Amino acid sequence: MRQDAPDDFVTIRNVTKKFGEFRALDGLSFSVREGGTLALLGPSGCGKTTMLRCLAGLETPEEGFISIAGKVVFDSAKGINLNPEDRGLGVVFQSYAVWPHMSVVENVEFPLRVRGVAPAERRARAMEILEIVGLTAFASRSATQLSGGQQQRVALARALVHKPALVLFDEALSNLDAQLREHMRLELQALQDRLGFTALYVTHDQGEALGLAETIILMNAGQIEASGPARQVFMTHHSSFAARFFGLNVVETARLAAPHAIAGKPFIAFQREYVRISEGVTGPGSDDLVLLGTIATRSFQGLADEYAIDLGNDVSVRVLDRSGAFSPGQAVSIAISRKDLFLLDA
Ligand SMILES: Nc1ncnc2c1ncn2[C@@H]1O[C@H](COP(=O)(O)OP(=O)(O)OP(=O)(O)O)[C@@H](O)[C@H]1O
Ligand SMILES: [Mg+2]
Repeated sequence: MRQDAPDDFVTIRNVTKKFGEFRALDGLSFSVREGGTLALLGPSGCGKTTMLRCLAGLETPEEGFISIAGKVVFDSAKGINLNPEDRGLGVVFQSYAVWPHMSVVENVEFPLRVRGVAPAERRARAMEILEIVGLTAFASRSATQLSGGQQQRVALARALVHKPALVLFDEALSNLDAQLREHMRLELQALQDRLGFTALYVTHDQGEALGLAETIILMNAGQIEASGPARQVFMTHHSSFAARFFGLNVVETARLAAPHAIAGKPFIAFQREYVRISEGVTGPGSDDLVLLGTIATRSFQGLADEYAIDLGNDVSVRVLDRSGAFSPGQAVSIAISRKDLFLLDA
């Protein structure tokens, strides 16, 4: 991976952060281009928040190098470790962390106050950013008298008011309902276009990462499991961890009963959606893998039913089907086109 090419805006090289003997970050390296959006994605505990806190200067890594906008903010070899307020970034946390004893506009002004901006100017700048996030009418209200979505926007305004070149978002949309989340996602993209900041999102939600970020880094236990353009990371699966994380069925081929036998790789993986279920035993089409099983459970998901299908030998898979035609206990065949099948090494 490119590490510190001159056009990188954020460079993170070999960052290791330990809590006692536990390596929360294990030699992490990646970069973000200027004006780009990158999402750190991965399961709970994989180190996403820790990476973000190291970038923000809220944790000190044991080792590594971090530069932002051409300025070295951390370098273990040279003993450089800038304070959070000297790193030129804004942070939006999952818990909005708006201050209850301040009004909306006072909350938003706070980063300017810390930086010693004069009262009249900081009020004007706070009002300007409140207009951008659509909260002008709420400026003098107590921050606690707002809905969750409105508090979220206060947190966003506060993170943007000092015009940071880099904004970090930690699960910033996770607490919002689906509709508001979608709205904020579009709003964030528009804001980024308008203000021109570089964005780094941390999330465990693949939909959020894929919808927001051009580049995705999938983390696993403090290391990078996969990285690249969002579409590529989602469509190409090289490991069973990545495939499972994105919700694919991953089946150990050795555990498949004889009629399913597949030569070659130790794992197969396929999306829940890309299957055709039929009743009873059908022979494979020329280009299909066919698995035989029994429907164990059915759960209505709105657009489709999700079935858990027992393949024998304690192997089961989850598949989606829109026909509504199958019931628990029924023997079925699942056909998967070869083009939709991933063969994995580990
Ligand atoms: N201050 C700390 N002391 C000890 N261990 C910590 C501390 N902070 C984090 N950890 C551990 O480091 C690991 C990574 O934590 P982190 O908060 O970065 O995970 P995450 O990927 O953000 O997870 P989530 O999606 O649940 O927010 C976890 O195992 C966590 O328990
Ligand atoms: Mg976290």
